[in-house]
Amino acid sequence: MDLRAYNRDAWNNQVSRGCRWTIPVSAAETEKAKNGEWSVVLTPKLPVPKSWFGEIRGLKILGLASAGGQQGPILSAAGADVTIYDNSPAQLGRDQEVSLRDQLTIKTIEGDMADLGEIASESFDLVFHPCSNGYVENVNPVWREAFRVLRPGGHLLAGFSNPDSFIFDDLLMEEKGIMEVRYKIPFNEKTDLEKNRLKKLVTDGEPLLCSHTWTDQIGGQLRAGFHLVDMYEDSWSESPLADFMRLFVATRAQKPL
Ligand SMILES: C[S@@+](CC[C@H](N)C(=O)[O-])C[C@H]1O[C@@H](n2cnc3c(N)ncnc32)[C@H](O)[C@@H]1O
Repeated sequence: MDLRAYNRDAWNNQVSRGCRWTIPVSAAETEKAKNGEWSVVLTPKLPVPKSWFGEIRGLKILGLASAGGQQGPILSAAGADVTIYDNSPAQLGRDQEVSLRDQLTIKTIEGDMADLGEIASESFDLVFHPCSNGYVENVNPVWREAFRVLRPGGHLLAGFSNPDSFIFDDLLMEEKGIMEVRYKIPFNEKTDLEKNRLKKLVTDGEPLLCSHTWTDQIGGQLRAGFHLVDMYEDSWSESPLADFMRLFVATRAQKPL
């Protein structure tokens, strides 16, 4: 299975189903953002500190695997020059819809987050990469490409899942509330899930995920050349695991001058 092609269809499918991460912001929210009242997320709940952006007006932002008409329109309405890059045409369509509705200027590009070939080196001030790198099998090229397209001194703001949260049997957790350790890290749903479970996800058109490791999520950023400057953890009340561990991480990293 070609994971990129599979996840493109699966995310198009999520848009038809109205999954939470495909619902665009309202006109009232972009109007507020135009007046300086705005916030965006890299992880499910906590707003990204405004200080992580610096002066937003005129900031050249690449929203990496960040379509869905959510962060792009808010950042654009707040005054940034926004390009949204994503694998799903339907998700990119959400940003185009909001752009037209609220008279924003958002450029959209369809492509793979691991290959930003059509983007010139050093052409962005900030890369905004919300929780989405679980949809690729190797995250290291994503960090290298983000580094390449940033100008020296520019920042990468990234959200990702806590790799350790993938050790549990989530079906058992959802259905019976039982937390049973089942999978080894790194865990890849495409190759490591039992055949019947994988078949069910595929039949349901659900996107497929990979856990990655701390070495790839943090070490990968450092090896790409970034300096890590800040981080926070977040959770998600919809998961029973949230009572026991933080499920998401956000990092701010800088490409050195
Ligand atoms: C959970 S959504 C994230 C976007 C959302 N606006 C948010 O608030 O987090 C994951 C996104 O990753 C995109 N995606 C999945 N695989 C990708 C790939 N290989 N390259 C680029 N984008 C990809 C999906 O199309 C989807 O829009």
